[in-house]
Amino acid sequence: MSGARVVLLGGTKGIGRAMARILSQRGDRVLLLGRDVDDLERSAADLAVRSGAAAILSARCDLADPSTFAGAIAHAEEVLGGIDRVVVTAADFATQEELEATPDRALALCAINFSHTVAFCEHARAALARAGGGVLCVFSSVAGERGRTPVVIYGASKAGVTAYLEGLDHRFRRDGLRTVCVKPGFVHTSMTAGLKPPPFAGEAEQVAAMAIKGMDRGTPVVFAPSIWRWVMLVIRNIPRFVMRRIGF
Ligand SMILES: NC(=O)c1ccc[n+]([C@@H]2O[C@H](COP(=O)([O-])OP(=O)(O)OC[C@H]3O[C@@H](n4cnc5c(N)ncnc54)[C@H](OP(=O)(O)O)[C@@H]3O)[C@@H](O)[C@H]2O)c1
Repeated sequence: MSGARVVLLGGTKGIGRAMARILSQRGDRVLLLGRDVDDLERSAADLAVRSGAAAILSARCDLADPSTFAGAIAHAEEVLGGIDRVVVTAADFATQEELEATPDRALALCAINFSHTVAFCEHARAALARAGGGVLCVFSSVAGERGRTPVVIYGASKAGVTAYLEGLDHRFRRDGLRTVCVKPGFVHTSMTAGLKPPPFAGEAEQVAAMAIKGMDRGTPVVFAPSIWRWVMLVIRNIPRFVMRRIGF
C-alpha cells in the first residue's frame, strides 16, 4: 500500500531511518517523531529531497518523557489528516554489564523500552482507531524470546513488548487494528556499533524492507533476517538446564 499516512518514531537513525527512506520514496506521507528537533528537521528535509515530496513537519516525542506523547500524536493527526500506520523503532540499548553497574540506567532502559513504549502505543492505537483501524508496527527483538545471560535486562524489556503486541492483536484485530511485532537479530546500526557481530548479522535496509512487507501484509510477527525464525524455534525449545550448562 503506498500513499499511506505514516507516523514513525525513531526515523533519525538505523532501521527507522531506512524505513522512512523506503516509505517516502514509494509515496507514503511520513511524519517523523523523535527527541531532537534539529535532528528531526534535518532528517525530514533529507527525506523530502530523496522522495521529491514536500517536507512533512516532524514533531518532538521523547520516549523518556511520556508527557510528549499525546501532543505528538495529536500533531500528527492534524498535519496528516488522520493516521493509517504507526511505526516504533526507537528504543534504548546498553550492555548487561553497564546496566548491572548502574541501576538507574537499568530503570531508564526498562521504562523507555517497555512501559513508555506501551503508553505511546496506547495513544497511537486510539489515533488509528479514530481513522478506522490501521497498522501498529513495533520493534521488539529476538533477545526477548528467552532469558539469556548477555541481555538479561534489555531482553526482558523486549519480551514485555512482544507480549503486549500479541495481546493487542488478539484484542483489537477484529476492530481493524493489525499489529506487527518485528524481531530483528543482530543488525549493523549505531545501536550495535562496537559489538562483535554474531552469525546471521543483518543490514538496516534489509530489515527495514522486511518490516514494511510485514506491515503491507499485516503479518503479526516478522523475524528479520528470516533465518532467525528457525534459530529461535530451536532456542525456544532448549531445556533450561541445558541453557544453564552452556552459559547461554
Ligand atoms: N540493531 C540491532 O541489532 C537490533 C537487534 C534487535 C532489535 N533491535 C531493535 O530494533 C529497533 C531499531 O534499532 P536500531 O538498531 O535501528 O537503533 P539505532 O540505530 O540506535 O536507532 C535508534 C533510534 O531510536 C531513537 N531513540 C532512542 N531513544 C529515544 C528516545 N528516548 N525517544 C525517542 N527516540 C529515541 C534514536 O533517536 P536519536 O537520533 O535521537 O538517538 C534513533 O532514531 C530498536 O527497537 C532495537 O531495540 C535492534
